[in-house]
Amino acid sequence: MLVKPLTLKDFQKASLIHFSTLSDISSLCGLGIVKKLYKKLISDDNHFCLGAWQRTDLIALITVSYDMNNSDKLMHGLFSFSDFLRITMKILTGKLSLWRIFQRLVFENSVKRYLPNKYSSIVTLCVEDKFQRKGIGKKLVKTAIMRLKEKKINYLYVDTREDNLKALSFYKSLGFKIVLQSAGGILLKIKLK
Ligand SMILES: CC(C)(COP(=O)(O)OP(=O)(O)OC[C@H]1O[C@@H](n2cnc3c(N)ncnc32)[C@H](O)[C@@H]1OP(=O)(O)O)[C@@H](O)C(=O)NCCC(=O)NCCS
Repeated sequence: MLVKPLTLKDFQKASLIHFSTLSDISSLCGLGIVKKLYKKLISDDNHFCLGAWQRTDLIALITVSYDMNNSDKLMHGLFSFSDFLRITMKILTGKLSLWRIFQRLVFENSVKRYLPNKYSSIVTLCVEDKFQRKGIGKKLVKTAIMRLKEKKINYLYVDTREDNLKALSFYKSLGFKIVLQSAGGILLKIKLK
């Protein structure tokens, strides 16, 4: 398995892995939004994206932000008027829960109060289903941590939903500790030095 940075030509496959493994708000909003997200994340200087390849196939990825408050703004800015109309339809037809969106906004607000300044965070991490539990997620996080240490960054954060027990167990196994719990979301932190 090879770990190397993603380039723009990987955005389609990265989006498909994200869409099929993560049921976060972006996935619930549709594959179109997820594709827009990866185009931005891969080309934006505030982030780095690493992929894990088996031969020529991308099978997992991690995206890390140097400044998560800016990443939240970037993500909110992805939605065009037609996206809002599509999302409204999803809410009206019960495919997307307004409560879930509300909870996410409340959680983001709690995190902003807890961490008002610039902080580094994992934005997305996903391993294709059939490759999970083979140490690939761990390798991606460890590689990302090495990169952050080179930049003299002292802490890495990540958030997940409290019902994502797999992710919680994964982050705890790497040494992340829970620092905040609010509106169905959990913020974890690891010291890098
Ligand atoms: C969470 C995720 C990234 C973990 O990646 P992975 O490559 O499967 O994890 P690893 O094989 O590196 O696991 C490392 C350790 O994490 C823990 N862990 C991983 N998956 C676990 C699971 N399903 N249940 C319990 N513990 C788990 C274990 O302690 C594991 O060590 P072990 O296998 O020696 O027991 C992966 O399951 C995934 O992509 N899930 C869907 C997307 C997602 O939820 N991403 C996180 C969003 S914040």
